[in-house]
Amino acid sequence: MDRIRIIGGHRLNGTIQISGAKNATLPLMIASLLSEDTLILDNVPQLADVVLLQRILGNHGVDVMIAGKRAGEDANNGRTLHISAKHIVDTTAPYELVSKMRASFWVIAPLVARMGEAKVSMPGGCAIGTRPVDLLIMALEKLGTEIEVEGGYVIARAPKGLCGAEINFPKVTVGGTHTAIMAASLAHGTTVIENAAREPEIGDVADCLNKMGAKISGAGTSRIVIEGVPKLHGARHTVLPDRIETGTYAMAVAMTGGDVLLQNARPELLQAALDVLGQAGATVTPTNEGVRVARNGAGLMPVEVTTAPFPGFPTDLQAQLMALMTRAHGTSHITETIFENRFMHVQELVRLGAHIHLDGETATIDGVPCLKGAPVMATDLRASVSLVIAGLAAEGETMVNRVYHLDRGFERVEEKLARCGAAIERLGG
Ligand code: UD1
Repeated sequence: MDRIRIIGGHRLNGTIQISGAKNATLPLMIASLLSEDTLILDNVPQLADVVLLQRILGNHGVDVMIAGKRAGEDANNGRTLHISAKHIVDTTAPYELVSKMRASFWVIAPLVARMGEAKVSMPGGCAIGTRPVDLLIMALEKLGTEIEVEGGYVIARAPKGLCGAEINFPKVTVGGTHTAIMAASLAHGTTVIENAAREPEIGDVADCLNKMGAKISGAGTSRIVIEGVPKLHGARHTVLPDRIETGTYAMAVAMTGGDVLLQNARPELLQAALDVLGQAGATVTPTNEGVRVARNGAGLMPVEVTTAPFPGFPTDLQAQLMALMTRAHGTSHITETIFENRFMHVQELVRLGAHIHLDGETATIDGVPCLKGAPVMATDLRASVSLVIAGLAAEGETMVNRVYHLDRGFERVEEKLARCGAAIERLGG
């Protein structure tokens, strides 16, 4: 398995191109199952999770064609995928594939909506807490799906089609909201989702579905109304920029000092995180091209942060913020409210010399004047990149082992950082 070697202590200066959002790309690709026609997605990031989902969709009979770049086109502008689910040959999503990525469980919604049946393995993905699917199942049941759980598989049946319903989520769930929207798009009648997730990726998928002929209103608010239609058609859609990648590089710059333009970033997608970076001492400036992040001279100030559903501070940036706060002048507190057990990066950050104390869902971070490079292990997607951020500021060599998780969610992280002056390289495993 590949490793990433970092020699800390270099400031970041230059431009980093922000890729299309992983968390929009995955549900958008899954939404292609709803139509017989081709869905064209632009600005798709090159990630291991995208490749894995291609395989999962391929297993259902979906054809994914990756358009080549024309001469003169910028290789950084993401790829274009032509996805055709004309013939669905199999409605089973097997354990070997679904267990590798939690979001692939979401295929259950378009499959049951369009084909009347689906058999999908219980999901896997990052080992961050229990991450159940009870709310996704609740939403499908409300829409008239009969559900059975057998041998680690969820079997969903709706031979006469789905019916619009009221779905009230007791807890905000991104996956539950995606599932409900996709299924309700092809249901008979109207569905109202209350306490829906407001994450920007929900709005992006709803925009794309509306281009395909769906009738969804209110996406981006906590009340979404969907009038079911009998069929969806093809469309072309550009994936929105990745707010988690944006926040991650913004924190990397705040960590090392320097001045970087995050090209294509949209500040309104991560205002809570940018506000926290401002409090920590970084200068964040929205520009026509994206967001500029700089920190010169002054040290980092500690912060008090609690993760929350959008528009709150995202759980997917919690590990990166913790890495940053290891170098603050004073004590920070970070409380994780979305996922229990999402603190696997703590012990690795401690290996680099961080002072972190965990008490239930709150981490207390006493800033230290310097971190020292060491071998560390990437445990989950966001934790991995927090180790990269820490390594950029640590004295000497940090070797991040098992970067498999990093490649699931961050496109060419070492190239993007090296171009801005970081001493970082990938070593083949
Ligand atoms: C998505 C994101 C992930 C992000 C998370 C929260 C994708 C591909 N992944 O994950 O990066 O960290 O949102 O912003 O978009 N829950 C239940 N029952 C369920 C479903 C969820 O109890 O049936 C709980 C979870 O355990 C968690 C909370 O609800 O505590 C939020 O999870 P959810 O929003 O569903 O996360 P994902 O959609 O899996």
